[in-house]
Amino acid sequence: MAIAYEQKDTILHVENLTVAYGEKVILQNVNIVEKDTVRAGKSQGQVIAVLGRSGRGKSTLFRALTGLEKPTSGRILIPDYSKPAANGQQPAKLVQEGDVGFVNQKYTLFRHKTVYQALWFALRNTTLTKAEKDEKIMHYLQEWGLEKNKDQYPNFLSGGQRQRTAILEQLLSSGYYMVLDEPFSGLDVGNIINVKKSFELISQSHELNTILFSTHDIELAVELADSIYIIGYPQDEKGNTINVGTVLRHFDLKQMGLAWHDGLRAEHLTCVQHIKEIMLKG
Ligand SMILES: Nc1ncnc2c1ncn2[C@@H]1O[C@H](COP(=O)(O)OP(=O)(O)O)[C@@H](O)[C@H]1O
Ligand SMILES: [Mg+2]
Repeated sequence: MAIAYEQKDTILHVENLTVAYGEKVILQNVNIVEKDTVRAGKSQGQVIAVLGRSGRGKSTLFRALTGLEKPTSGRILIPDYSKPAANGQQPAKLVQEGDVGFVNQKYTLFRHKTVYQALWFALRNTTLTKAEKDEKIMHYLQEWGLEKNKDQYPNFLSGGQRQRTAILEQLLSSGYYMVLDEPFSGLDVGNIINVKKSFELISQSHELNTILFSTHDIELAVELADSIYIIGYPQDEKGNTINVGTVLRHFDLKQMGLAWHDGLRAEHLTCVQHIKEIMLKG
């Protein structure tokens, strides 16, 4: 049975994005529109998966989303929460470095900062008072099961604790958006569960929280995401492949009644199969 939800303001708008490295065009005409999803009586963030074969431009898209790579043309807009809403809609602004947190595959942490110090540093650009910062950090440490690790340095943390600290650090420093490039690669089953739990915690802690992640595990993407974009090489009218990445397909799992379920049902597996076929062609 499909779960009821509403869609509110646009929270991410990628408009005709083209990204090139020098002369080499990597991504072309990428369009993405994501809206704030609202579920009655529940904080429901957005979880968006980006799938595609190697070299199709997933990491390049993420670099553009975090503001690290400037678009060759097109633009990436997010709401500007520093301005008052007009006609019930926040004005939009171009995404800038710092708006979107970026967690790399290695979950890199500062070697010389304890968990608490790293999170304190993550809040450096906020206007919170010292007491408010402390309260916020302690709240998250408790919620994320890291209270006991508060004064530990990265070398003394387990893999799961490191991952949670790195994710939390980005969450605190960036606000609502977070990009994770292949966060599940090379993790054992236990740590995959840890990262999945962090996704849940982020998603449930604020309605505007928006996670974008890439993975080669299609089943995991269908299990976790409520929206999936497939990046790949399109074909021209003659059926020749164009070697520039773009969005080949978008699956809105909410609309399909496949979002927010525990585990995979037959309909989910059909969707996985469908995605595989599209990816193999592009
Ligand atoms: N800094 C760079 N300079 C030139 N080419 C790059 C650079 N980074 C990535 N590329 C190329 O861009 C293409 C897309 O890479 P990437 O975005 O990493 O794909 P994916 O993450 O889907 O594997 C590849 O052909 C890659 O070689
Ligand atoms: Mg990549």
